[in-house]
Amino acid sequence: MSKPLSNKLALVTGSSRGIGAAVAARLAADGASVIITYAAGRERAEAVVNEIRAAGGEAEAVGADLGDPKGIATLIAAVDGAFSGKFNGRLDILVNNAGTVEYGPFLETSDQSYDNHFNLNVRAPMALAKDAGRRMAKTGWGRIINISSAFGEAAPLPGVTLYIATKFALSGFTKGLSRELGPMGITVNGVQPGPIDTELSPNPGTPEYDAMVKLTSVGRFGKVKEIAAAVAYLAHPDASYTNGENLTVDGGWNA
Ligand SMILES: NC(=O)c1ccc[n+]([C@@H]2O[C@H](COP(=O)([O-])OP(=O)(O)OC[C@H]3O[C@@H](n4cnc5c(N)ncnc54)[C@H](OP(=O)(O)O)[C@@H]3O)[C@@H](O)[C@H]2O)c1
Repeated sequence: MSKPLSNKLALVTGSSRGIGAAVAARLAADGASVIITYAAGRERAEAVVNEIRAAGGEAEAVGADLGDPKGIATLIAAVDGAFSGKFNGRLDILVNNAGTVEYGPFLETSDQSYDNHFNLNVRAPMALAKDAGRRMAKTGWGRIINISSAFGEAAPLPGVTLYIATKFALSGFTKGLSRELGPMGITVNGVQPGPIDTELSPNPGTPEYDAMVKLTSVGRFGKVKEIAAAVAYLAHPDASYTNGENLTVDGGWNA
């Protein structure tokens, strides 16, 4: 039986672990051929590729530091040759997921921390969306999905001000770009996760973790598969009338 994303090429940034790995596995299960990306975690990226292949899916991994324009160029070049050139430079689904956060008071932040946040969380998704949009415009079909954050629409905690600024930027970018690409058959949407159990989040049992649990109404951190399910909806051909939407999946955090 044909799957909803059969014969589609998907690129999921930051998919060696965490939310990205779950998104990649889900899109592959839905039939897409998936490019996995990593910065330093090559072995973990290869493990994700192997798991997808073992489940009958198609995946391959590319290493690229997306905080650096050279890494962005490397990844864009890899799309052309993906899966031995089978897709002829086509790209159907882009999930901008790689992101970073550094905790601490804004008054003590460094210029380096500013660059770390904005280069990876904002510049890279914009550069990759520009390249992807040009590819998708040629076929008249595409899905660009930006993984923002519940911090992309509200600021319920101190100590993450730079991160919040980048996620507001990314959620705003989603809306602006949707206006430009919607007429081309390309939807641009975002997912705004609340606290999800990954290495980016505080460790269970810490005061920070407990404070975040209290801000949800369901009383727990979310699971990566709960974010992957939202991405799968937005990537699905049936989601063709959903455009410019930032879908908040946060256990009630921002209600
Ligand atoms: N976890 C949450 O509670 C939560 C909540 C809201 C939003 N989000 C957002 O969801 C996305 C994924 O978060 P996560 O929790 O899954 O993060 P994670 O577990 O820390 O994984 C981060 C991923 O990004 C990659 N990465 C890190 N720095 C990179 C760089 N400079 N260039 C390219 N790739 C890089 C990592 O690759 P390596 O393995 O090679 O380091 C890894 O694959 C982020 O955009 C985050 O802001 C997360």
